[in-house]
Amino acid sequence: MKKYISEVKTPKISIAPMVDKTHRHFRYFSRILTKEALLYTEMITAQSIINGDRDKILYFREEEGAVALQIAASTPEDAYKAVKLSEDYNYSEINLNCGCPSDRVSGNLMGAALMSSKDLVYEILCAMKEATKKPITIKHRIGIDGTGVLEGISDKIIMEGYDDLLSFLDTVSKARPDRYTIHARSAILKGLSPKDNREIPPLDYNMVYNLKKEFDYLNIEINGGFKTIESIKDALTKVDGVMIGRPAYENCYLLTNFYKLYEGNENKKPISRAEAIKAYIPYIIEELEKGNSVHALVSPLQSLFQGQKGSKKYKQLLSSSNVKKETIIQILNHIIETMPENILYN
Ligand SMILES: Cc1cc2nc3c(=O)[nH]c(=O)nc-3n(C[C@H](O)[C@H](O)[C@H](O)COP(=O)(O)O)c2cc1C
Repeated sequence: MKKYISEVKTPKISIAPMVDKTHRHFRYFSRILTKEALLYTEMITAQSIINGDRDKILYFREEEGAVALQIAASTPEDAYKAVKLSEDYNYSEINLNCGCPSDRVSGNLMGAALMSSKDLVYEILCAMKEATKKPITIKHRIGIDGTGVLEGISDKIIMEGYDDLLSFLDTVSKARPDRYTIHARSAILKGLSPKDNREIPPLDYNMVYNLKKEFDYLNIEINGGFKTIESIKDALTKVDGVMIGRPAYENCYLLTNFYKLYEGNENKKPISRAEAIKAYIPYIIEELEKGNSVHALVSPLQSLFQGQKGSKKYKQLLSSSNVKKETIIQILNHIIETMPENILYN
């Protein structure tokens, strides 16, 4: 393994890249809930950065704070161009997706399928490093099963077990990535939907923990199945960081507790639900004026009352049939006036 001690600090907590979820409105609201987490964009293909409407795809407001751009690429040339073009925007780091199992992505030798071509991953990471001085990071799985998809494309169709993971990292580490975010389950490229690929292959945290134990100089962030502050704290005794995905939109108020991961915060109080809504209202007004969709703007709020009394009624008030751009602010003010005080102001 290449011994490269990156100077990039791994945040204790980050919110995973998630297509159709971690768009800039979601990230803006997440930043109201937590100042601590590194936020990620959705996966964006290098081709769409090169050929698409870049401002639409890459623009974000500085209030979002530290945001990592995640790209999907299948050639060093595309990766280089995409990273260079993203230099016009203020991302704090650029991440390469080697974990997405979807057919469309694997078919184009991107995402998890790339793990079967470790030399190519090495070349792509080198190209990314050449294009920017920003940290370059990688998100990958502990293994893949490319049966039925990668025959004829790659020699290594199945990667399973610790030795295969080490062999992948041995090559990739030569490109000196600044961090490895490891989703602690394999990706099965044929026969499982992306959703099933986040649930059916079992989680194997020990594979990630053993890696950190053996190569303590690597910056390692673990991902998959972390839902509570306690489980995150426990993982942080073994690796540098924890990335959370689904809980960030299924139970977003969890984010307000991330301050507990840092010492010296014992007297801090999390922002209340009412304060969070109030802080988001001016943003909604501004973004509606710019012509943005009210539904996209409201989507980050959907799980704010998850698990609390009144959550069903709240979700109904924010359902797409109720929400209109003319009435959304009225609805939010109504929520602040009518939800139980102990839940609004914890
Ligand atoms: C709706 C959705 C979209 C996702 N999109 C991406 C993506 O764009 N890039 C990526 O690397 N992973 C993506 N993932 C995977 C997550 O980043 C994460 O690895 C996975 O959900 C496991 O973490 P969790 O158990 O905390 O949810 C997505 C997951 C979900 C649920």
